[in-house]
Amino acid sequence: MVEMPIVIQDYMPSDREDLNQLALAAFAQYELHYEDWNGFQEGVARMSDLAGNADVIVAKRGGIVVGGIGHVGPGRPRDPIFPDQWSVIRMLVVAPEQRGQGIGKRLVAACLQRASRAGAAIVGLHTSPIMADALSLYTAIGFERDCDLPPINGVPYARYVLSAEAIPLALKLLNE
Ligand SMILES: CC(C)(COP(=O)(O)OP(=O)(O)OC[C@H]1O[C@@H](n2cnc3c(N)ncnc32)[C@H](O)[C@@H]1OP(=O)(O)O)[C@@H](O)C(=O)NCCC(=O)NCCS
Repeated sequence: MVEMPIVIQDYMPSDREDLNQLALAAFAQYELHYEDWNGFQEGVARMSDLAGNADVIVAKRGGIVVGGIGHVGPGRPRDPIFPDQWSVIRMLVVAPEQRGQGIGKRLVAACLQRASRAGAAIVGLHTSPIMADALSLYTAIGFERDCDLPPINGVPYARYVLSAEAIPLALKLLNE
């Protein structure tokens, strides 16, 4: 059977429930790592709320949401761990059964294009060593760890950064 192509597009309010369910499914693999799993899941299940202060981008196959990501542009409200003039990448998620096909890379590329258009000097994100696939994706395109962050719910986190000058090479690597 021929698979439908992946379409990357802006989040629409009608994607709300699908995106939230997808985020829950994407993070389910971390259940044993967080001390307060129920509390953590409550936050994950509100991924669509990002759309209030961020550009949310979704990946769809055959009209079904299979991935998502948030881009918080310079000047938009954010966690104080990120300076105001940065772009921030939030919550990269791909449906477990759709992984390994380049959907995550396409979502990150869409985010970096937004950051570039917005004139951000730095793109930041926070992630954890438990998120090994995401970490290898981000470090493979040039993100560097710049500081440790307080653990979230018992899970270690660190901040990673990519300078604006490094975005063109990152986009090239993402498209290979
Ligand atoms: C991280 C995630 C979004 C990757 O999505 P994906 O669509 O499978 O990613 P891609 O197919 O675009 O792969 C991109 C890169 O990710 C890394 N990667 C993906 N799957 C991997 C695996 N099983 N093992 C190691 N690296 C892997 C590789 O660097 C890969 O690049 P390559 O194909 O050139 O080797 C997905 O695994 C996910 O949703 N994880 C759970 C949620 C999460 O941890 N989010 C990150 C929050 S910071």
